[in-house]
Amino acid sequence: MKILVTGGAGFIGSNFINYWLEKYSNDKIINLDILTYAGNLDNLKTIESNPNYTFVKGDICDERLVNELVKNIDLIVHFAAESHVDRSVVSCEDFIRTNVNGTRVLLDAAKNNKGIRFHHISTDEVFGSLGFSDPKFNEFTPYNPKSPYSASKAASDHLVRAYFHTHKLPITISNCSNNYGEYQFPEKLIPLFVTNLLEGKKIPLYGDGKNVRDWIYVGDHNRGVDCVIRKGRIGETYCLGGGNELSNSEITSIILNLLGFGEEMIEYVSDRPGHDLRYAIDITKVERDLNWYPEVDFDAGIKHTINWYKNNKEWWQKIKSGEYRNYYRRQYGT
Ligand code: NAD
Ligand code: TYD
Repeated sequence: MKILVTGGAGFIGSNFINYWLEKYSNDKIINLDILTYAGNLDNLKTIESNPNYTFVKGDICDERLVNELVKNIDLIVHFAAESHVDRSVVSCEDFIRTNVNGTRVLLDAAKNNKGIRFHHISTDEVFGSLGFSDPKFNEFTPYNPKSPYSASKAASDHLVRAYFHTHKLPITISNCSNNYGEYQFPEKLIPLFVTNLLEGKKIPLYGDGKNVRDWIYVGDHNRGVDCVIRKGRIGETYCLGGGNELSNSEITSIILNLLGFGEEMIEYVSDRPGHDLRYAIDITKVERDLNWYPEVDFDAGIKHTINWYKNNKEWWQKIKSGEYRNYYRRQYGT
């Protein structure tokens, strides 16, 4: 099988390529990634000389390039996106450009070259925010995105589904909860807190720390994507979640304990505007129809992840001392 992966130099996409080429060593992957601040070819060092892997630096919004690349492709797995809620609060222009128009460009290219299967990677954030006692999100939950990021992802999900209904494009969609693991850019909660502590810096907890996320290890997410690609029904959506609902305060305590720090390292900072209270995913459909369930429990996953950041300081120090630091200084004055 010949696969076009978009955004394969980012966190989840690079883990996906590493996973896929190890499991399906005869498949060929083209990785199309523009290398924004979040794209990092260091994530793909182990496979960069694999003859079945090709990297193309380019923009998913570039119609000419995308049309060229999809020739003879069997499957597109679309990860590329602007992915950080806080950045979408500062400005959402790039989110609309990449997440909405970029998805449209890929869909048109797939439509115009018959026989291409399209798998769209999305998020549970498209469903909005749950109260503490609300039932979890599932495939029937109405869309109600609250942040510019989740609104742009919701728009892309609707477009993908529209191409199935209108043009009979063979699509599937997966909506996953919060991922953690190796190669996650240190602006998201877990890698930011772990790397800050490894540098002896404080950790910025938003608001009262009571917001809840459903954490999934990135390898479990990618196994889920694999199951949906191989066994999912065309035109359908699958919700993937980790079954690990934890408040940000709980996660913070776990990380502090594992790294041997006390609560004095927490800096309570102003809340994120429009901060979604709770995300949680009901995985009944994927368990029942695809026999998929998360395998990595949070205790093991977070220990593994912290060890990875401890043992790969060069990877994140390079990021934190570069453009990212300047970005952070500009936006947050830290
Ligand atoms: P990331 O920010 O780490 O990586 C995104 C990648 O996309 C980067 O390599 C970037 O260079 C690339 N990219 C951005 N704009 C591009 C463009 N115009 N053309 C080509 N490449 C471009 O993101 P991630 O956390 O790995 O998320 C990947 C996907 O998974 C996204 O679609 C995101 O919405 C979805 N998702 C993420 C999570 C999570 O917890 N991180 C959870 C559920 C779903
Ligand atoms: P994040 O990792 O940005 O993912 P998302 O916003 O997509 O869920 O944030 C996870 C949770 O952690 C969210 O409730 C916001 C909170 N958070 C902090 O408290 N401090 C931080 O510095 C960051 C980045 C996030």
